[in-house]
Amino acid sequence: MSHDILTQTHDAVLRIQINRPDKKNALTLAMYEAMTAALLAAEADPAVRVILFAGADSCFTAGNDLADFLNSPPGGEDSPVFRFLKTLIAAQKPVLAAVHGVAVGIGTTMLLHCDLVYAGPSARFQTPFVNLGLTPEAASSLLLPQLMGHRRAAELLLLGETFDAETALAVGLINGLRADSELDAYVLHKADILAAKPPTAVRLSKQLMKRWPAAAVQQAMGQEGDIFIARLHSSEAREAMTAFFERRQPDFSRVVDDAL
Ligand code: COA
Repeated sequence: MSHDILTQTHDAVLRIQINRPDKKNALTLAMYEAMTAALLAAEADPAVRVILFAGADSCFTAGNDLADFLNSPPGGEDSPVFRFLKTLIAAQKPVLAAVHGVAVGIGTTMLLHCDLVYAGPSARFQTPFVNLGLTPEAASSLLLPQLMGHRRAAELLLLGETFDAETALAVGLINGLRADSELDAYVLHKADILAAKPPTAVRLSKQLMKRWPAAAVQQAMGQEGDIFIARLHSSEAREAMTAFFERRQPDFSRVVDDAL
């Protein structure tokens, strides 16, 4: 297991902590693989009844590691990022998340596949795919408009704006807000409440809730994935990501758009 992903069991709750604070918890290939392994192990272990994702104190995650996007972009459905998303989406046990600080890209879109999400006032949600020459993933092109309407979703997916925790609560992206200092204990308490409930009834209820949108989510993921992978090789994406590491604004006036 990667040391950038820590797992800890609190009674019947498995806590998966993203722990790469020097890089704002940006997710590498190894971290996706470690999270997928932790999810699969939790699903297989009858002693685990609830899964909880948490970040470090100052950040949830800055999203996919941009150096990985440049140097080892996902090539298809078996890539670590897609395997992680598919495993999360298929999780039968309830999944909670506690969000402090930045939740960028997949840091926001993965929350669409968690059952209960709580955040501190420090939380900042952003899906800046367009700013990077990319397009939505994790079925967010379907689920964000469904959740908050096309116009609010366009603020996230087209403008790449940042939502603070109050806005995220107002649009239904999170269940509740707690002081950052109390958040982890509060979410663990919610997880304990769920873990004490009859597990089969919980599992079947989640399964029923997810059953109807499942085919649409799968279809959206497939269509998004093909476009996303192609976009990663575009000159727009290369300019945006290179600019990030060179700590300059990207200049899209010179890029020649790639036909798609
Ligand atoms: N991939 C790789 N490295 C990243 C990263 C990412 N997604 N996000 C942050 N980092 C690294 C920075 O390069 C920097 O590394 P360095 O100290 O070696 O130079 C370190 O993490 C701290 O980031 P910094 O940008 O200085 O922190 P900040 O507090 O000013 O800003 C963010 C935080 C998250 C707003 C900013 O880092 C950011 O926009 N990151 C990119 C987010 C992104 O586009 N994710 C992909 C979405 S698909």
